[in-house]
Amino acid sequence: MAQRISLTRYLVEQQRADGRIPSQLRLLLEVVARACKSISQAVNKGALGGVLGTAHSENVQGEVQKKLDIIANEVLIEANEWGGHLAAMASEEMDGIYLVPNRYPQGEYLLLFDPLDGSSNIDVNVSIGTIFSVLKKPDGDRGVEESDFLQPGTQQVAAGYCIYGPQTTLVLTVGDGVAMFTLDREQGSFVLTEENVRIPEDTKEFAINMSNMRHWDAPVKRYIDECLQGKDGPRGKDFNMRWIASMVADVHRILTRGGIFMYPWDKREPNKPGKLRLMYEANPMSWLVEQAGGAATNGRQRILELQPAQLHERVSVILGSKNEVERVTSYHSVV
Ligand code: AHG
Ligand code: MN
Ligand code: MN
Ligand code: MN
Repeated sequence: MAQRISLTRYLVEQQRADGRIPSQLRLLLEVVARACKSISQAVNKGALGGVLGTAHSENVQGEVQKKLDIIANEVLIEANEWGGHLAAMASEEMDGIYLVPNRYPQGEYLLLFDPLDGSSNIDVNVSIGTIFSVLKKPDGDRGVEESDFLQPGTQQVAAGYCIYGPQTTLVLTVGDGVAMFTLDREQGSFVLTEENVRIPEDTKEFAINMSNMRHWDAPVKRYIDECLQGKDGPRGKDFNMRWIASMVADVHRILTRGGIFMYPWDKREPNKPGKLRLMYEANPMSWLVEQAGGAATNGRQRILELQPAQLHERVSVILGSKNEVERVTSYHSVV
């Protein structure tokens, strides 16, 4: 039987190989993985653990929070605040930033997360997940402020997600490709199951919420219409469609077999560039996709190069198989 490589061993050997994972970052990634294991346990209990349903509160996004949104947020904060690897955290479920309390040593990293992605799927037993992004705090010993988080996605030093599905799988990049670790529940450890993940440059599978079709901009309408015309149309091939409504699950499928995922701007909320959040959904997912040979734009620009202006700002997302993303992006440049 092939030797099993644990997450810890992978991180130690990656550090030995190219120094990408200093000890504080290794501790951060192991602590986040352990927190995801706890969230996975809670998710697996479902009704038996009293974690389903809403918390009857609203988050800064104006969304009704599910109990698991709040539980996952608390698990990640409690797991990370004492270790000395972080200066501050930011979350979809928190308005401002969370400074590591003075009773703990301050670290050099900033951690951002969507503690529970796909909340609308919690109560219907469909895959959900946690998304995280790691930045470095600016040098100097002044206290961290919200503006210190407003770094473009190219500044990330680590990014990943954990999907809570039939398997619990942690997917991670530190800038040297994408690796996947499956949770061995008997051992309680994440075991390396995929390395050097590659997204095929072409695909026949698109993911978009078709119910919003009448609200889309012309380039997106053109692209999807051509896909729907199938092999008799300009694309010369039939397409399949998937929409799970958990970004982690749609992205995991794309990392596993290719595809294009789109949550574009639409005219329901014309002043918002899109639904998904740049800092803790689009940036980490875009880096993972690019590290696996895919592409990620907002229709006009590479997502990772966008300069954030606000912590919870939204963005239009088109990511996945390189040739398809480039096609959609080219349609935006002709209008
Ligand atoms: P979250 O549950 O963290 O708020 O994110 C949900 C996002 C994303 O996971 C998914 O792709 C998208 O919302 C689904 O949106 P629709 O329900 O509008 O399809
Ligand atoms: Mn939400
Ligand atoms: Mn989300
Ligand atoms: Mn969420």
